[in-house]
Amino acid sequence: MHIAVKRKLQRTIKVYLPNVPSGLAMLKRHHLLIANKFHEDTIEQLDQQYQTHHLWKLTNIEKKLLIKRLEGQCRLVATASWDTDPFIYTLRSLELIACFGVGIDGIDLVTVRSRGIRVTNTPDVLTDAVADLAMGLLISTSRNLVNADKFVKMGSWQKSSFPFGSGLAGKTLGIAGLGRIGKAIARRAEAFKLNIEYHNRSKVNLPYTYHPSLEALATASDFFLCMLPGGDVTRGLISKNIFKKIGPLGTFINVGRGSCVDEEALAEALANGDLGSAGLDVYEREPEVNQKLTTLSNVVLLPHIGSATVETRKAMGQLVIENLNAAICKTKLITEVKD
Ligand code: NAP
Ligand code: 8YV
Repeated sequence: MHIAVKRKLQRTIKVYLPNVPSGLAMLKRHHLLIANKFHEDTIEQLDQQYQTHHLWKLTNIEKKLLIKRLEGQCRLVATASWDTDPFIYTLRSLELIACFGVGIDGIDLVTVRSRGIRVTNTPDVLTDAVADLAMGLLISTSRNLVNADKFVKMGSWQKSSFPFGSGLAGKTLGIAGLGRIGKAIARRAEAFKLNIEYHNRSKVNLPYTYHPSLEALATASDFFLCMLPGGDVTRGLISKNIFKKIGPLGTFINVGRGSCVDEEALAEALANGDLGSAGLDVYEREPEVNQKLTTLSNVVLLPHIGSATVETRKAMGQLVIENLNAAICKTKLITEVKD
């Protein structure tokens, strides 16, 4: 627990948290609406600390009744960041949404802004895990690792040799979205002797070549990696023309958000050879995956596991809990999303 929050809690309820049962009993008076099943261990801890209400387990009629009952008493919601239940906004006393995840594209920003509802997310604690996974996808696609594994397991090695992959050293990695995670990927990629170029809406103070458009970045890239956030502004930005510019020898990697990509155009480009290969961790309509993509051998598909390590998910959950506790204590939220 963040030290400032803990001190304030201790002063407020005059007991030590989280180890003293009476301290937990004080928190227990607070209601917490949990929108969806985001991380079991965190939800278990929240169940112990708050009077929790599991929205995802209810029918729509039950949800309506619950919200009516909680009106005026409940001001906190915990939810996955990239997906939530719009029922949470029917709670008029809602003051804070604590998100599990950094990308808050699941949150209705128009509603929260107009009602002054505060939002927290879980930045930084997941950066290393996501950057590691991005490097994993880069190597899996460039060296064809998934097909190589199948090749050995199916006994093909005894009959033929496996095709050569392409090296990373000296090639250009174009990063769309050089933010916290994008920069962590760039640091790793430097060790692989990749040349780093990027596109953001604004330049950053780093010695990487900046491109003012995605098209220019795609033209310059051997490997084009999307680390962009989701939401209306980035929806469908990566489409047919971008894949053509990455080219038949190029690779597209997406660890940002599936909504940034025209998935149909991606499948088409991979199938007709306009684009060489792809590695994806995120999709337009998760957990649905475009059927065409699942039949192609030049794409590696992962089930949105960028932050899915035991340690990282635990740290994300801890941050959700600390933000909720800070809201209760009326101390500064640890990681509030600001415009
Ligand atoms: P961040 O620090 O906010 O970085 C986002 C970057 O994208 C910034 O550099 C931003 O620069 C750029 N950007 C935003 N909108 C843009 C636009 N319209 N056009 C061009 N560039 C734009 O966020 P982060 O912590 O690195 O996380 C990035 C995203 O990764 C999250 O939002 C989430 O969607 C995704 N993510 C995925 C996983 C996974 O498991 N696969 C895990 C965690 C996060 P400017 O503002 O200058 O444009
Ligand atoms: C998910 C992510 O939150 O942080 C993000 O934006 O996409 C992931 O870390 C994670 O899959 C839990 O839902």
